[in-house]
Amino acid sequence: MAEQRERWASRPAFIMAAVGSAIGLGNVWRFPGTAFNNGGGAFFIPYFIALMTAGIPLLIVEYGLGSRFQGSAPRAYRKLGAKYEWIGWWAVLVGLVISFYYCVILAWSWVYLWGSIKAMFGGALPWVEKTADPYFKEDILRVTSEPWEFGEFVWPTVIGLALTWIAIYFSIAKGVLRVGKIVMITVPLPLLILAALVVRGITLDGAADGLAYYLAPDWAKLAEPKTWLAAYGQVFFSLSVGWGILIAYASYMSRKTDVTNNALITSFANCGFSFMAGFAVFSTVGYLGVATSTPVGDIKATSFSLAFATYPTAIENMPGGATMQAVIAVGFFLMLLTLGVDSAFSIVEAVSTSMYDKFRMKRETLVKMLCFGGFIMGLIFCFGSGLYWLDITDHFMNDYGLGLIALVQAVLIGWLIPRDEFKRIMDNIN
Ligand code: PHE
Repeated sequence: MAEQRERWASRPAFIMAAVGSAIGLGNVWRFPGTAFNNGGGAFFIPYFIALMTAGIPLLIVEYGLGSRFQGSAPRAYRKLGAKYEWIGWWAVLVGLVISFYYCVILAWSWVYLWGSIKAMFGGALPWVEKTADPYFKEDILRVTSEPWEFGEFVWPTVIGLALTWIAIYFSIAKGVLRVGKIVMITVPLPLLILAALVVRGITLDGAADGLAYYLAPDWAKLAEPKTWLAAYGQVFFSLSVGWGILIAYASYMSRKTDVTNNALITSFANCGFSFMAGFAVFSTVGYLGVATSTPVGDIKATSFSLAFATYPTAIENMPGGATMQAVIAVGFFLMLLTLGVDSAFSIVEAVSTSMYDKFRMKRETLVKMLCFGGFIMGLIFCFGSGLYWLDITDHFMNDYGLGLIALVQAVLIGWLIPRDEFKRIMDNIN
């Protein structure tokens, strides 16, 4: 007789885990910058449309497949037809590659967190002396001039990376019951910190300028296809759909769960968080404009510079004295870490569930192998040229890996499953 599949302790545990996977670094460094580059306030229209036409439907499909077939992506697809199994593998493997560099971003956050904790007990924040941008490039990344010039092996990043993978190992090695407990901390904690940062941000001088800049609609952008691609890309990345993660998570739910509602809760929690993160970031950018007499438009507010240069600079200019600044810095980097770690382990969980379903190996052994392998692969990004490789991999994975898989899955599922059957699966009528 087949052994009993593991189960979440409760439906909220499952939903929290799905929300934890969705809410991640992408909400902080990806969403505000993407919105800003693609029409500001006007971006909410394509974003919302992408959410309604692709994000939520695909989320429902993934939840439905997982709970109906009680298996990971490769297994669910195999049940639809043996020749489709590879699609599931493709999806989880793209996710795995993303986890290699996603964890490196978390590694930098550890290094900043450590520096900020030290500053809390006296001394200056580490980036104050040479200013944040050069500190990030020269001290943290030790960046070289081109991808093939590997440069130094950056030990602090390696230690941060090891800590990240150890955290992932402890979170998932013991199964989803433990995951359900961990996310009860890693989901609410960053939310609380973000709320504090929003309050801090919007009560600073110049906050209104920054927000006006973030939200000012540029309607002309809506005519550009690029804007729409960015919206769909952001929705997939942010909801963590297309990588088989949610199929794996849902496979630990019973067959009778309210798939549609689960999907709606996850997506609205995620989008609300993104929107709020935009407030925290841009109010602070507005303040930085005032504090340093720079026009808001000249401040770099996208991608990594936002989290590791712009925001740290704003912190060092905040009122309240050195200790207060250090506390804000600790809060900010702790937020990044708790945001990111549950997204990172969700990817590894998807891969380990897939391998478990296929090879029936011991879960702990699988997770150990994956974490060790992930750590080794991440070392590529720990050289001075790491940032270049990270950018290259990120673009490649997102533009080709993710978009394509999501499309293939949507078409295939629409094609393979007859409409009535599909409705039955998604409504969970067995
Ligand atoms: N959704 C996560 C974020 O917004 C990123 C992520 C991508 C997580 C892929 C899992 C898989 O940061």
